[in-house]
Amino acid sequence: MTDRSRLHMAIQKSGRLAEQSRDLLKSAGLKIQAHKGQLNARATNFPLDLMLVRDDDIPTFVADGVCELGIVGLNVLEEYALGQPQVGVEVIARLGFGRCALKLAAPAGQAFALADLEGSRIATSYPRLTRRFLDEQGIAAEVVTMRGAVELAPRLGIANYVCDLVSTGQTLEANGLEPVLTVLDSEAVLVRTAKTIDPDRAAQLDQLTTRIDGVIATAESKYIVLNAPESALPDISRILPGAEAPTVVPLVGRQGHVAVQAVCQESVFWETLEQLKKAGASAILVMPIEKMML
Ligand code: PRP
Ligand code: ZN
Repeated sequence: MTDRSRLHMAIQKSGRLAEQSRDLLKSAGLKIQAHKGQLNARATNFPLDLMLVRDDDIPTFVADGVCELGIVGLNVLEEYALGQPQVGVEVIARLGFGRCALKLAAPAGQAFALADLEGSRIATSYPRLTRRFLDEQGIAAEVVTMRGAVELAPRLGIANYVCDLVSTGQTLEANGLEPVLTVLDSEAVLVRTAKTIDPDRAAQLDQLTTRIDGVIATAESKYIVLNAPESALPDISRILPGAEAPTVVPLVGRQGHVAVQAVCQESVFWETLEQLKKAGASAILVMPIEKMML
């Protein structure tokens, strides 16, 4: 029996998102107690229970309200949503991991034009997304639904093309296929049920999502400190990626020079530092941010 005084979150038991989903929750400060083979895990320092399920089942658990929250690939979510009259699942945040794409692939080395799809057979585990894509392109083709091993279909003579998930591209390559078109770009997303949540659970949900937002924000964010002539400030503010209102402090004994401190919410690259230096900055420090609450 589920304990309704606690929040429930559905995450993938094993597979492409499983480990990073747990890592995200750990970064959000949750201590998770899991027992091997069990379908549940419990946070010992937050009222959250995890349900460890197949990725394809996550949208259903969340839509039904069995779990208030879930972490799932956009690919799985969209495929599910296309089959529902009313979706029942809302995306709260893109999580920046589990990036992959649903791609149409053809036998390697074979010339390909969109029109070739007309009248062809396409094997996929994502029949609705594939069908939507074909409809959008005005192509009449047969969609062959397979649960797995989609990449074998052309060799077995079951289909001419496949529409499958690609992350590293190794699976396609190993099966003599190459991607020719992108149907959907995907990454992990945090979702919540569209059902009404009782006030206590809603407060817990807000607290947890605020923490997760903080984790996402800090993943890329850096704290930058540098010295610069005051006259260079406009240029420098422009270069600092995603920094709002940097702090400017006078430097004792150095007339016309200031220290600038800023939180940059976008990636800071070596190129960024080179540009800052060119603009007049010196003694540039870039530091990771451990926690952040926005
Ligand atoms: C997808 C896809 C391929 C593999 C591609 O399956 O069906 O088998 O990933 O990855 P690669 O480009 O890195 O080789 P997935 O792991 O999502 O399994 P599932 O569909 O059974 O959930
Ligand atoms: Zn799956």
